[in-house]
Amino acid sequence: MELYNDLLPDPLPTEPMALANAWLETARAARQQPNPDAMVLATATADGRPSARIVLCKELDVVRGYVSFVTNYDSRKGRELAVNARAALVFHWDHAHRQVRVEGVVAKAPASESDEYFASRNWQRRIGAWASAQSQPLHSREQLNAAVRAAAERFGAPHPTPGNVNDPPGVDIPRPPFWGGLHLWADSVELWVEGAARVHERARWTRSLTTDGDEFDAGPWSASRLQP
Ligand SMILES: Cc1cc2nc3c(=O)[nH]c(=O)nc-3n(C[C@H](O)[C@H](O)[C@H](O)COP(=O)(O)O)c2cc1C
Repeated sequence: MELYNDLLPDPLPTEPMALANAWLETARAARQQPNPDAMVLATATADGRPSARIVLCKELDVVRGYVSFVTNYDSRKGRELAVNARAALVFHWDHAHRQVRVEGVVAKAPASESDEYFASRNWQRRIGAWASAQSQPLHSREQLNAAVRAAAERFGAPHPTPGNVNDPPGVDIPRPPFWGGLHLWADSVELWVEGAARVHERARWTRSLTTDGDEFDAGPWSASRLQP
């Protein structure tokens, strides 16, 4: 079966999210890389110093046009986003010869959605989220082990050991207030496909995005092809 098309559709679709999501679903189904959901997230400080790291995509919302991921809100990325909400994401599926770039504005996911994400993690990972002050200095591995043991004791859970992923009965591990989902609302999406003889294909969709805090109001997408 031919998994991948060589080129972008012609004419271009009026909006990019459905195609981007189809590429993500194809990469997930193809199982050609361990983390097809991995994407580079770039943030920047208020004075424009960039930083980038991998995070996993939880969902690409085709209707509203955002990409969601989870993290520690007090991490370096979380603190940068708190003062500069603009961010960029890049997916790269090497086997598929495809890249997706997304730029836009990041806002916290609703608490109910973050709760759902947290509840879907096994108990050891829920304990781990409590134990790690992500991006803070760590004096030793033992300091982290001690924080894991303390978090497990706090919630009446056994000490986490490798392989023991079944929920301990009667143990409730709530979501930490500093951990949850983020939505990157897209105002620019670029799809890239490797073409024959290095003549690649690119197209970018842009739209206006206004926000009054939590609610986003998006205009229609407009598409244009770009030289590779
Ligand atoms: C494959 C992979 C997946 C990762 N997924 C996440 C994730 O979903 N959320 C997260 O906060 N960090 C994730 N990380 C760790 C981040 O890359 C990064 O080390 C961490 O979030 C701290 O970044 P910061 O100090 O810039 O905030 C992942 C790393 C890798 C290699």
